[in-house]
Amino acid sequence: MSSTATPSSLDIRRVAVVGAGTIGASWAALFLAHGLEVVVSDPGAHAEGQTRARVQAAWPVLTELGHVQPGASPDALRFEPDLEAALAGVDFVQENAPEREDFKIDLFERMDAILPPHAIVASSSSGLIMSRLQSRCRHAERFVIGHPFNPPHLIPLVEVVGGSQTSAATIDRSIAFYRSMGKHPIRLNKEVPGHIANRLQAALWREAIHLAAENVATVADIDAAVSQGPGLRWALFGPHMTFNLGGGEGGLAHFMHHLLGPVQTWWDDLGAPDVTPELQRRLIEGVNAEAGHRSIADLVEARDSQLTALLKTLHR
Ligand SMILES: NC(=O)c1ccc[n+]([C@@H]2O[C@H](COP(=O)([O-])OP(=O)(O)OC[C@H]3O[C@@H](n4cnc5c(N)ncnc54)[C@H](O)[C@@H]3O)[C@@H](O)[C@H]2O)c1
Repeated sequence: MSSTATPSSLDIRRVAVVGAGTIGASWAALFLAHGLEVVVSDPGAHAEGQTRARVQAAWPVLTELGHVQPGASPDALRFEPDLEAALAGVDFVQENAPEREDFKIDLFERMDAILPPHAIVASSSSGLIMSRLQSRCRHAERFVIGHPFNPPHLIPLVEVVGGSQTSAATIDRSIAFYRSMGKHPIRLNKEVPGHIANRLQAALWREAIHLAAENVATVADIDAAVSQGPGLRWALFGPHMTFNLGGGEGGLAHFMHHLLGPVQTWWDDLGAPDVTPELQRRLIEGVNAEAGHRSIADLVEARDSQLTALLKTLHR
């Protein structure tokens, strides 16, 4: 785990997690593990019980990965359904409410009116544009995107990008805060829908769907073409560094000289599938065949235990 600042050196001690579904509960577990004061707010009828259960479930892995600080406990979680009470005196908010622009604009305006001026609000939004989300806030400078990957308590990447009114100080403090939580934040220089990683995933998925639609292989074999092949290298290096090595001693320059022509012909042939209800049905049938007798719970358990082993091996 890389760590350049402690939460206390950043004056971030009290954190609110607003919206505690899949993503919020996972963030709450990570923040608790690092010994922060964590208050969770979610109006859902069963939200408190579900959040506590998810945090308990995440704790063994967080312990195994060395995130749990002395004295930290999942029982320290405070649940407060009332937003105003939850936000009193907090330094940092991680927002994980439903992914709807109008909803988040309203919620941000409400949070802005309640929060002390120094508090930062980071949104987990998977792809909304911060300039629009912060548009009705008086202290718009403290709103930023801090986009994690599921599950945030395990995957290191956090994409950080400000809107047109976000201050440089908010971006810098958010990056330092995520580093202090053992994350690997990256800084986007400009806003784009879907940020970076979801656009990359979407590009790959579009072609995977196209290949399935064209019956080039089964859904299971197309998935294996990623997970049994380049996906293994992508855990270590991104596409540029991977091809830098693909060029041997000549690096990326040789790779491009040698293979850019053929790659260009593949780019020209990539598909843009019309994902009709019939195609959706075929993809679902294909993935069910790939899953076989394994339930979603089985697959999540396998993903998280193998991911933990991988993160330990890679020292992340
Ligand atoms: N699921 C993913 O893979 C993923 C990954 C990265 C980022 N995200 C982003 O995280 C956010 C949450 O996604 P999720 O998958 O956890 O959704 P989810 O549906 O699991 O959880 C959303 C939660 O928000 C709560 N909520 C509704 N109204 C609220 C309000 N007024 N105040 C506070 N909470 C409220 C709901 O009760 C629910 O518990 C979205 O912005 C999404 O784009 C999701």
